[in-house]
Amino acid sequence: MNRIDPHTLAPPTTPAVPAVEVLSAEKTYANGTQALLPVDLSIAEGEFVTLLGPSGCGKSTLLKMVAGMLEPSDGRLLVWRKPVAQLHDCPHKLSFVFQSPTLMPWASVQTNVRLPLDLAGVPRKEADARVTESLALVGLEKFASALPRALSGGMQMRVSIARGLVTQPDLLLMDEPFGALDEITRHKLDADLLELWRKKKLTVIFVTHSIHEAVFLSSRVVMMAARPGRVVEQFQIDEPYPRQADFMVTPAFARHAKQLQDSLLRASTTEEEEAAP
Ligand SMILES: Nc1ncnc2c1ncn2[C@@H]1O[C@H](COP(=O)(O)OP(=O)(O)OP(=O)(O)O)[C@@H](O)[C@H]1O
Ligand SMILES: [Mg+2]
Repeated sequence: MNRIDPHTLAPPTTPAVPAVEVLSAEKTYANGTQALLPVDLSIAEGEFVTLLGPSGCGKSTLLKMVAGMLEPSDGRLLVWRKPVAQLHDCPHKLSFVFQSPTLMPWASVQTNVRLPLDLAGVPRKEADARVTESLALVGLEKFASALPRALSGGMQMRVSIARGLVTQPDLLLMDEPFGALDEITRHKLDADLLELWRKKKLTVIFVTHSIHEAVFLSSRVVMMAARPGRVVEQFQIDEPYPRQADFMVTPAFARHAKQLQDSLLRASTTEEEEAAP
């Protein structure tokens, strides 16, 4: 694992095609909260990048800016070299998966997953075929007509992921998607997500508070600090994929986890020291 200068735009191993370029993008909210100092970050096609850092360091703010859900106060964000606002002209698509599944409780799993296609006016037959494919990807094909309340928390999260995949995105943005789940379910979904990432050749930006989840999943971890939010360090997790559960008991895993833990401590201490009178 190499420490990378946070001011470097991309790690040396990054291939040429950038999926996401954050160019001195910063965010101050209307109430004056300085959520993010200027961030420079380049994410290549096919990377699995995790944003890690204490609460309030701007992880969700950054992810929402990449998704075009929030405007930066200054700077620019490009997705496949286009401003986010022009993504509709781009053959590449992005999807956002939130922490809670946010499903319509009165609608079946199938209808919930079909929603983005219905909104886009995709003909019903084609939409239904894509829903079936998407549910199969998350192992829920048998639950198409179930209502969300009949499913466990982990299964509801799978429905939410299926809805994210149904538009066949190239870029998946995930804000603490498994944070509310128990450890075993979470680990199962982590493993499934890696499989999907590989199979579909996705680019993923993932937010978590879990160091272990970050090491298990990521090709790169971006460490952020709070007040004001900023990127402080980056780490390559240079371990081969596919990664299975036994990766988590290797010395290499422990080494990466320790390095991230030390970095997170530094990122959090700075914040406490600044807050001290
Ligand atoms: N709509 C808003 N208006 C004003 N301030 C906001 C708004 N959204 C977030 N903030 C502030 O901006 C900073 C960054 O918030 P953000 O939600 O991006 O952090 P985060 O890293 O995602 O935190 P968490 O780990 O708790 O989810 C925080 O100080 C937060 O209080
Ligand atoms: Mg957040």
